[in-house]
Amino acid sequence: MLVPSPWTTPHPSPPPAYHVGSSPPLFPPHEDLVPSVSSLADIYSASELPHQSARWAALEARFRALYDRQISFVTRTPGRVNLIGEHIDYSWFPVLPMAIPRDVLVAVAIIPAADAAADGRIILSNVQALKYPTRVFNTRDFTDPFFPIPTDKHIDWSAYFLAGLKGALTFSRLCATEATPLPTMRILVDGELPTCAGLSASSAFVCSSLLAVLATITAPVIERSFLVNSAVISERALGVNSGGMDQAASVFAIRDHALLVDFRPLVSAKPVRVLDTVPRLCFILANSLVSVSNRTETGPDRYNIRFVETTIAAEILAREYSVGRLEIRDGFGGTLRGFYDKICERQGWAMGDRESEERAVKDIVARIRKTFSKDRYSLDEVAEMLGLSTEDMMRKYTTRFPIRATHLNLRDRAQHVIEESFRCKCFSSLLASSTTNLRALSATESTPYFDALGELMNASQESCSSMFACSCPEIDNLCRIAQKYGAAGSRITGTGWGGCIISLVRADRVDQVIDGLRKEYYSVQHPEIKDISEVVFQITPSNGSVLTKGTGFQM
Ligand code: GLA
Repeated sequence: MLVPSPWTTPHPSPPPAYHVGSSPPLFPPHEDLVPSVSSLADIYSASELPHQSARWAALEARFRALYDRQISFVTRTPGRVNLIGEHIDYSWFPVLPMAIPRDVLVAVAIIPAADAAADGRIILSNVQALKYPTRVFNTRDFTDPFFPIPTDKHIDWSAYFLAGLKGALTFSRLCATEATPLPTMRILVDGELPTCAGLSASSAFVCSSLLAVLATITAPVIERSFLVNSAVISERALGVNSGGMDQAASVFAIRDHALLVDFRPLVSAKPVRVLDTVPRLCFILANSLVSVSNRTETGPDRYNIRFVETTIAAEILAREYSVGRLEIRDGFGGTLRGFYDKICERQGWAMGDRESEERAVKDIVARIRKTFSKDRYSLDEVAEMLGLSTEDMMRKYTTRFPIRATHLNLRDRAQHVIEESFRCKCFSSLLASSTTNLRALSATESTPYFDALGELMNASQESCSSMFACSCPEIDNLCRIAQKYGAAGSRITGTGWGGCIISLVRADRVDQVIDGLRKEYYSVQHPEIKDISEVVFQITPSNGSVLTKGTGFQM
């Protein structure tokens, strides 16, 4: 099932978008800066404040105990969930993530050269010191911003900080801003995001680290767009390919809103308010506890293969239907969005309403199925379709991001991307619908609304599982249980092959869904877990990256 929901027209005056890149900003410049906040209330919602006040106070006390200094400033970046639009960002189709309250804090003390303690070292500690031991670096090791980061099979936690540091040094030089050399620094990290759960903990850490170093070496006036772009490129230093969704979601997020993140013509993020409904619309995260192992390690068997499959599918389709050369993404290859846009342009299809989009999706899926008659092609066969030798194909598509594969599935991967992009458009259109956005939905109006959103999420999960093969039995099982106990929709979120599911649930069914997951999943698969509140919890859309004001910060 492609899309079961009604289509609603977009909001007549959509909220403004943040644009990334050098296009004229739609906002006054200060709106596009990483906010410098002066109190915890600027970051967290009222219900989160008691916990966060205690946590920040503990961070401050620990910092003082460790370093015998005051914190100069803290950077904070949240994790994210993706509501819908999975594995389509690197094909340049829009996605709909939102930031979650759990985050990564990087507390910094800058020690000026005149201070007796200025020893030219950067000491990096973590509040979870046993799990993440302290690392000590010398600032002179970073004189050349192209310093290597060790990315062995088991990547050290400090590599994410170094990726941020490298990004900050590289980009501040490229922009020829008034960057000062790295001073002596003391750093303490506190992450509340579970790792390997697909909630973008590593991107949040890279973003916070990058922001911390940028704020140290330049004026603390940092464009969000600059942070997003730099963070995407920084993570690539770790051999991790990324479509850009995670960084855009974590940096641009706004409380109570999801974000429609688009990648063409530039990366942009449009806030989409999550509607008031009766009963309230809630999001529940459930961790399958199947580890989304580090993408540096598993990339060649999973993420990188999907990246290559979708890119090659786009290139072959462009040849097959003679649409001309596709715009190249990151010096790598064309995208399915490029192919989609070229076909629509050639057919004279104006996009933007449900009928036109649905016609385009059907047409393009038919072309995909005609071009790729089977679901598995050997590498030699793929090379032949591209008109390349196998060696040249491998050199072109797999040098930067290696893969381990003997066969590729071009048909199902491409079909997933095209149909998922349509589901994402329908979902965000429903969230932002003009008829509903202006008021709260009554109990009678809510049911079809929940059903429509939920069915889109379920159809997305079905496609992630069967067409894109980025789910796993545990995730499929969790989704089934959540639906059985009353979730309107449930789906995998993020990288996949494990991690978390996100469920859309009416407020009056939250307890029964959580209880169902406890009974049928956690008690069976993980009887050792006594309190499931760490693995199943409600989330609300959170604010994005911030920097605390140097003085007078209120906890
Ligand atoms: C990871 C990547 C994102 C995106 C998702 C899948 O989180 O970092 O860019 O591709 O996987 O939707």
